[in-house]
Amino acid sequence: MLDKLKMIRQETLDRLAGVNDEKELEALQINALGRSGALTELLRGMGAMEKSARAAFGQEANRVKRELEEAIAARRKTLGALAQQMRFARESIDVTEPGKRPVPRGRLHPMTQTYREIRDVLVGMGFTTFDGPEVELDDYNFTKLNLPPDHPARDMQDTFYVNDKVVLRTHTSPGEVRAFQTLKPPFRVVIPGRCFRVDEVDASHSPIFMQMEGLVVDRNISLADLKGTLETFIHAIFGEDVKTRFRPSYFPFTEPSAELDISCTICGGKGCRVCKNTGWLEVLGCGLTNPHEVENCGLDPHEWSAFAFGIGIDRITSLRYGVTDIRLEYENDARFLRQF
Ligand code: DAH
Repeated sequence: MLDKLKMIRQETLDRLAGVNDEKELEALQINALGRSGALTELLRGMGAMEKSARAAFGQEANRVKRELEEAIAARRKTLGALAQQMRFARESIDVTEPGKRPVPRGRLHPMTQTYREIRDVLVGMGFTTFDGPEVELDDYNFTKLNLPPDHPARDMQDTFYVNDKVVLRTHTSPGEVRAFQTLKPPFRVVIPGRCFRVDEVDASHSPIFMQMEGLVVDRNISLADLKGTLETFIHAIFGEDVKTRFRPSYFPFTEPSAELDISCTICGGKGCRVCKNTGWLEVLGCGLTNPHEVENCGLDPHEWSAFAFGIGIDRITSLRYGVTDIRLEYENDARFLRQF
C-alpha cells in the first residue's frame, strides 16, 4: 500500500509539471484526488489493512493528499499568472509607435489668412474689430450712408431684400453706422464680414463675398490721415516695393472719394493680362466720410470727422496668391485649399 501511495504521489507530481492549462489541471486533479481518483481508491482499501499499519499509513496518505493538493493549487496559480501575462502581451499597444498614415493637418482658408493679416496690421495701428449683422436694416445699408431711395445701388437687381425694410447687407459699410451709434469717438475700427449681392456667379462675381470696412473717427481728420494710413497698410501687406496711387472716384458715403490702386503685383507695372495692360490693380475704395453720414449717425459733423475704406478680402487674396477665378475661393474644394 505504501509503495502504491508513493507511486501515485510521484506520478501525479510528474504529470503536474507537464500540465499547461487549466483544463489539463482539472483532469489531473480529478484523476488523483477526485471521488474515484487513484488516491481515494487507495484510501478505500485501508479497511483491509492491519490495525497497527493502518494508523501510520493513514497519516502518510493524508500528508501526501495535502502535498498534492498544495502542489496542484500552486500550479494553478502559476498557470493563471502565465495566462494573464500572455493576455497582456497580446492586448498591449505601444503608444509610442508611429502611426501608419500621417494625421492630416488642417489649415486656415486663404481668405481667413488674408483677413487676419490685414486685421493684424491695422490692429497694430490702433484699430479694434467691430461686428455688424449680415441681415441689415435697409436704412443702415443705404439711407444713413447717404444713398437716397432712388440710387441705382438700391435696384432689386443688386440687393437681396428680406422685406421692405430689411436686406442682406450689400457691403460692410452699414457697420459704420452701428459703430458710430455704439462707440464713443474718437475710435478706429475694422468691420469684417460676409456681404451679399444678386450676381451671377462667374470668374469675378460671387453672390456672397467678403469685405472689410475701416473707419477712423476723430477731430480734424484729413486726406493726409487717410493716405498715410492706407499707404502704410498696403506696404505691410504687399511689400515696400509696391507703388500706390489714389484715383478720384465716387461713393455716396465719402466726399471726396478715391480708389486706391497698387502697381501690378504680377508684372511689376509693365502691363499684363491681370492688370489689363494698365500696370495698376484696384484694391480698395476710400474717402473722407460724407458729413451727411456723420450727421445721420447722430454726431455733429462740425466737431467729428472721419475717413473710411472698404476692402474686398477675396480680391486681396486673389492678388496675393495669383488666383484668377474667384469661385475657387468660395467653393471649398480641398484640392485647391490644400495649396495654401
Ligand atoms: N462699400 C463700398 C463697396 O462695397 C466700398 C467702400 C468704398 C467702402 C469707399 C468705404 C469707402 O468705406 O469709403 O463697394
